[in-house]
Amino acid sequence: MKILVVGSGGREHALVWKLAASMRVRRMWCAPGNAGIGLEELACGSGRVECVPIPAEEIDVLLEFARSHKPDLTVVGPDNPLALGIVDRFQREGLPIWGPNQSAARFESSKVFSQEFMERYGIPTARAGTFSDAGEAKEFARTLDGRCAVKADGLALGKGVLICQNKEEAYRAIEEILVQRTFGSAGATVVIQEFLEGTEVSLHALCDGRTALMFPTSQDHKRAMDQDMGLNTGGMGTYSPTPFLSGDELEKVGRSILDPWLAGCAREGIDFKGILYPGVMLTAQGAKVLEFNARFGDPETQVYLTRLENDLLELLEASVAGSLHRIELRWRPDVSVCVVMASGGYPGAYEKGCVIKGLDQADQIPGTKVFHAGTAMKNGEVVTNGGRVLGVTALGRDLVQARNAAYAAVDRIRFKGAQWRSDIGWRAMKPS
Ligand code: AMP
Ligand code: GLY
Repeated sequence: MKILVVGSGGREHALVWKLAASMRVRRMWCAPGNAGIGLEELACGSGRVECVPIPAEEIDVLLEFARSHKPDLTVVGPDNPLALGIVDRFQREGLPIWGPNQSAARFESSKVFSQEFMERYGIPTARAGTFSDAGEAKEFARTLDGRCAVKADGLALGKGVLICQNKEEAYRAIEEILVQRTFGSAGATVVIQEFLEGTEVSLHALCDGRTALMFPTSQDHKRAMDQDMGLNTGGMGTYSPTPFLSGDELEKVGRSILDPWLAGCAREGIDFKGILYPGVMLTAQGAKVLEFNARFGDPETQVYLTRLENDLLELLEASVAGSLHRIELRWRPDVSVCVVMASGGYPGAYEKGCVIKGLDQADQIPGTKVFHAGTAMKNGEVVTNGGRVLGVTALGRDLVQARNAAYAAVDRIRFKGAQWRSDIGWRAMKPS
């Protein structure tokens, strides 16, 4: 089979790596890919993955490429092309593609749609309101004493959520998004949720429109610095599984979200084929959904796919075909930890083009895999090319062993300005 993967981050490297392990894949392209993706060998022995320099949002160009190269399946990683309707465009031309269509992708591309859907179908979520008038928004925020999350409706590069602890902060956030339009038209409407306290976990479910197969739990680390200090980022590290939900509890929480969600999708004619990724807060009053994403998480994918035993290609085919009810997901019992190494300054301004050393030595540590995110090849050397640069991922018998392996690999990698969190998994560590 020939596969085209769309995207260029750590998530896409993990997808490519896992798909390349399938003996049925004889050729693979990644648009645009990164340095690590271009070094992946296909398990069937027919060569390396080929990076093609087409940005993930250039749907016309991707279509043109697919028309001429005829991939048997296109796999979409990031949210933007999904929100732009890449799946609908490919399907209209009879080109097989995996991911939610534009209507289904609204679970991520519109927070208003998502929040109202949750309320319509009784999916446990935060108390919330939807506003386009700043006065009414402030009035609602006042009833929450200002302790709330103010969220721009549309996609805002992961920056459209402002967490507020008092009325002044909430009023300022509302002004910023609704009046000053810091996020442009994405902020024409806002969702304001009550502030939820608890432990946040990432859930993922692979869906085919009728069946949703739950993954184990994972936990991201969104802040830039140790102990959850510093600015919000795309995610500085993950581990899976987490100790916060037992198997039975995960089953129960999963059903409380997925059963009404599937029923709502059926009722509204939403054919969701892809990954539903609910961000969930485990509160004293039970699990509540903070938001839905309509794609694999990054860096959640890195820990999930290193644990997944199934052939990913078969799973994605079943998701497209609507036959997931015949599939059972199988996971290694090991813990997987991913430590993101980022450019100095990230999530603010950072330098690009710094040479990365020690990648081969890091890969030699048993059970580790270094996934590339913002990297490029320059004069035969791997250089930095983005904020999040690498996702150093390791499996271990338990969290301590996986962490030790991941950090031992991190220690072997060097590039100018490299920064990473030294406490991935800290919430799950038993005090020593
Ligand atoms: P979102 O993009 O909606 O997941 O929001 C980004 C981050 O903001 C989440 O991962 C949470 O850490 C935090 N967050 C969002 N909504 C809430 C809420 N209602 N209460 C507390 N924290 C929240
Ligand atoms: N790990 C956060 C995200 O993928 O949105």
